[in-house]
Parts: sequence; structure tokens; C-alpha cells
Amino acid sequence: MNVLLIGGGGREHAIAWKLAQSKNLGKLYITPGNAGTARCGENVPIAASDVGKLVEFARQNKVGIVIVGPEDPLAAGVVDQMEKSGIKAFGPSAGAAQLEADKAFAKQLMRASAISTAEGRIFARFSDAKAYIASRDKAVVVKAAGLAQGKGVIICDDPADGILAAEKILVDKIFGSAGDKIVVEDKLLGEEASILAFVDGRNIYVMESSQDHKPIGDGDTGPNTGGMGAYSPAPVVTEEMMDRITREILVPVVDGMNRNGTPYKGVLYAGLMITGAGPRVLEFNVRFGDPETQPILARLKSDLLEVCLAVCDGRLDEVTLRWDERPAVCVVMASGGYPGDYQKGKIITGLEQAEQLEDVVVFHAGTKKQNGDIVTNGGRVLGVTALSHTIADAKTRAYEAVGKIKFEGAYWRKDIADKAIKLTK
Ligand code: AMP
Ligand code: GLY
Repeated sequence: MNVLLIGGGGREHAIAWKLAQSKNLGKLYITPGNAGTARCGENVPIAASDVGKLVEFARQNKVGIVIVGPEDPLAAGVVDQMEKSGIKAFGPSAGAAQLEADKAFAKQLMRASAISTAEGRIFARFSDAKAYIASRDKAVVVKAAGLAQGKGVIICDDPADGILAAEKILVDKIFGSAGDKIVVEDKLLGEEASILAFVDGRNIYVMESSQDHKPIGDGDTGPNTGGMGAYSPAPVVTEEMMDRITREILVPVVDGMNRNGTPYKGVLYAGLMITGAGPRVLEFNVRFGDPETQPILARLKSDLLEVCLAVCDGRLDEVTLRWDERPAVCVVMASGGYPGDYQKGKIITGLEQAEQLEDVVVFHAGTKKQNGDIVTNGGRVLGVTALSHTIADAKTRAYEAVGKIKFEGAYWRKDIADKAIKLTK
């Protein structure tokens, strides 16, 4: 079967790498892809946002299933358009993608379904937001309701800063129309975890847990990024905690989406704070997380194409997910300056030496081929991923591989997985 994979980050390289292992894969096309996905299939230069061209390409190339990586094409209705043309597509409809694309929608759905999340309110007018924040008089988190590339969240320990953040988003429009509405919520304390599940509208199949590292600096300092590294499993998510997450969060959200007339299909990602009082939802994403997908898929033993088809056909109960018991750690190597300005086009060396290490796979994110070299082409450049029998050993192995890779200005966090290592001691 021919497959079209939409996207071009580390997540998409991990998906392409896994799909390439499927016995039923025909041709794999990736739009637009990167230098890593080019090793798993054929990159096609169509932007992930060009829905019309993507549908035309899928039709002309006898694509049996389209798998969508990023949120923007999902929110733009790529799945609806593919299905209208009779092409199977893995991911939620535009209506269901609101769960990520509109944080106000997500907050209302959680309220209606009695799902535990931070106490919060939705505002379109600055004066109302200001009065609310002043009346709470505690640390708040101010979030642009729309899609803002993971950057639309401002954590404010002082309410005065919360009022300033609300003004910047609602009045100064620092996130454009993504900030036409904001969610203001209480700041939660605890350990974060990412729970990803396959959902076929009815059945839910939870994957192994993982944890991201959002801030740029060691010890979780500095501004947030798309994610600087991840590991799987997350020890904070014990078996008992996973049962609670399934019962108290995943089942009610899938039911709530059905009641709302926007049934959910694809990967459902719950970003959680594990607090002393139990799991609380920080956000939902409507797709595989990045970088979490890199260590998760490195551990998946089952055929990913088969699982994606089962999701589209509403028969997720017929497949089983088998996992490598060993933990995986993924360290993101980024361009110097990211998440601010950075340069592109730096030659990357040492990739082969890194991949020669046992149980190491180097997923590409912002890379491309140029005059026979592989060069940097984005903020997050590589996700160096290693498996081993302990999480501490997987960390050592991942950093050993990182040490072999060179490009000018390369930056990476030095403490990926330390939280997990501390918890498992
Ligand atoms: P989001 O995009 O909503 O996941 O927010 C990005 C990051 O901000 C999360 O991964 C958390 O680290 C942090 N965050 C979001 N909401 C809260 C909250 N209510 N309390 C504490 N931290 C939060
Ligand atoms: N790693 C967070 C995200 O994918 O949004």
C-alpha cells in the first residue's frame, strides 16, 4: 500500500522509519520531509499547509492512507478533504482538531465532561481578564486560545505579570489572531507527563508513557521550545496512575467528543501535570507529540501501518501493541540561538559514526541535503535516540552518540532524563 506522510520534523522521521519496517508498505511519500525521511521514502516538495495540492498528489499516486504529522493541516481540514475524495486519512477532522486548535473549546469540553484540569476562565476582553486575574491574586498561566506553535503559553508567578501577559496577547496581539481569546488558569505544581493514545472514535489504545523537556535550558530554565528531549516510559506514570488517566481523562474526552458531534480519530495526546491530588490536563494535542514520538516509536515493536489502518477503519480492538521493555532517551540537538533567531545551512558531520553505536537511531528534524552534504535547516536539527536496559544507560548511550555529531553552533541540554533517573533510584 502506498502511504503519504505529511510533515517534515523529527516526529515525521520517526514515523517514516517505523512505516518503512512495515511488511505491507508500498511506496512512502513524505511532504515535504527532511534529509532523514529521504532515507525511508521519497520526499515531495509540497508544503504541509497546501491541502489542495496534497489531495491531488494522493489521488494521482494511488495513496492508500494519508498520515498527518502536524496540527496545522489537521485544523485546516486535510482529513475531511482527503475523505471527501475517497482517500483514507489518519488523524482527526477539522471539527475534532479544535481540541488542540482552540483551547477555549478544550476547556469547555473538559468542564462538560468533568475532566480534571486547572481552574480557569476564557476571555475575549482585556478588561474582564484583568479584573479576574486581580481578583485571584495568585500565580496564573495565560494562554492564547489558538495555535501558536507551542509558544502561546505564558507562566506568571506574579498576578501583575499575568495582567501584562493578557494585555500583550489580547491587545498587542503578539500571537496574532491566535490570541483573539485567552484562557487564564491557575498554575499547577507537579511532574509533567505526555500520554499518547490511538483512538478510532470508540476504542482507545494507550501507548507507553513519555516525558518532554520544554524549556531550552538545563534544570528547566529559560523560554519554552518545541521540546528539547524526551524519554519513555515516564516513571511518574505508574500502572495505577495510567489506569486513573484512562478512566478519568481519556475515556471521558472520547465520550465527550462523540456527544459533541465531533468524534475523535487518530492520536490523542494528553499533556498532564501529575499533582499530589492526581492527574490534571494542561492541554490536548490532536497528533503525535514531538519529540515524544521519537523514543515512543523507537520502542514500538508492532506494525505502525497496520495500527493506523485499524484506527481509520474503526477496528482498533483487533490490533495489539507490543513494546520493547527497554527505556529510550532522545536528546534534541538544536541550532545555536533557538528558540530565538538562528542560522541555517551548517554542515553536519559524524552522523554515521553516531548511528554505528548499538541501539542508537538519529532522527532528523531540521535537516536537508545540499551539494552532497547534510546541512541544518531548522531550529531543532536532530533527535538522537538510544535504547538500553536502564534509563540511565540509555541516557549515557544517547549522549555518547551526540558527542560524535558536529555542526557549528550545535546546542543541546545536558540533563535529559535526569528526572526519571532520580525517580527510579
Ligand atoms: P501547553 O502548550 O498548554 O501544554 O503549555 C506549555 C507548557 O506550559 C506546559 O508543558 C507546561 O510546562 C506549562 N503549563 C501549561 N499550563 C500550565 C499550568 N496550568 N500550570 C503549570 N504549568 C503549565
Ligand atoms: N512535545 C510537545 C508537543 O508535541 O506539542
